[in-house]
Amino acid sequence: MFYEPQNGHGLPHNPLKAIISPRPVGWIGTRSKEGALNLAPYSFFNIVCDTPPLLMFSSSGYKDSVAFVEETREFTANMVGGHLAEQMNATSVNAPRGTSEFDYAGLTPVSCEKIKAPRVAEAYASLECVAVDIRQLTGRDGKPTDSYMVIGEVVGVHIDEYILVDGLIDITRSRPVSRLGYMDFATTDTVYELFRPKWGE
Ligand SMILES: Cc1cc2nc3c(=O)[nH]c(=O)nc-3n(C[C@H](O)[C@H](O)[C@H](O)COP(=O)(O)O)c2cc1C
Repeated sequence: MFYEPQNGHGLPHNPLKAIISPRPVGWIGTRSKEGALNLAPYSFFNIVCDTPPLLMFSSSGYKDSVAFVEETREFTANMVGGHLAEQMNATSVNAPRGTSEFDYAGLTPVSCEKIKAPRVAEAYASLECVAVDIRQLTGRDGKPTDSYMVIGEVVGVHIDEYILVDGLIDITRSRPVSRLGYMDFATTDTVYELFRPKWGE
C-alpha cells in the first residue's frame, strides 16, 4: 500500500510510529525554577551527533518537560532497563504541574554532578544535559506545529557499573526498553555482531 499522510491511511491506527520502530525511550528528568521535580518518558528521542554529544527529545504539545527546560536550560535523559518498564509507563501519567512523578512511580531522584535537574537512581545510565536549542517545529508549509523539540548537549554521563563487562556496555545486562507502535514495547536482550565489509576483500 501507499498513502500520503495528509490524505489519511485508512488503517485502524496510524502506522507511522510502528514503522519507525523500535524507538529508544528517553526518561526526561527536569526541575522547575521553583524546584518542582518532573519525570516523563519520551520516545521521540535519540542521540543526533557525538562531537559534541547532542541528543534530542520532542514533545507533542507544550508539556511540563519542555516548560521546565525552558525555565532552567537543563535536563537529564535516563535510560530504562526492562525491570523498570511499568514504572516508566507510570511516569507518563498526566499529573498536575508540580506533582513529582518520581514520588508517583516510587522512584528515587538523585542529584547530578554538573546540573540541578534530577536523575533516576534506578536507571542503568543517566545523561546530564544542557539545552542548546528549544524550537517549535514547523511543517513544510512553514506553519508552526504544536510540537516542540529540545536539543541538549551531554555534559555528564552516569553508568551503572553492573552493565559494564570488560569496559563495554553489555546490552544483555542493561536490557533497554524501546517503544514500538501502538501500545507495544520491547526489551532488547539478545545481540549479534555485524562487521562492515571492506571493498575488495
Ligand atoms: C513510552 C512512552 C513514550 C512517550 N513518548 C512521548 C514523546 O515522544 N512525546 C510526547 O509528547 N509524549 C510522549 N509520551 C507521553 C508523555 O510521557 C506524557 O504526555 C507525559 O505526561 C508528559 O509529561 P510532562 O508533561 O511532565 O512532560 C510518551 C509516553 C510513553 C509511555
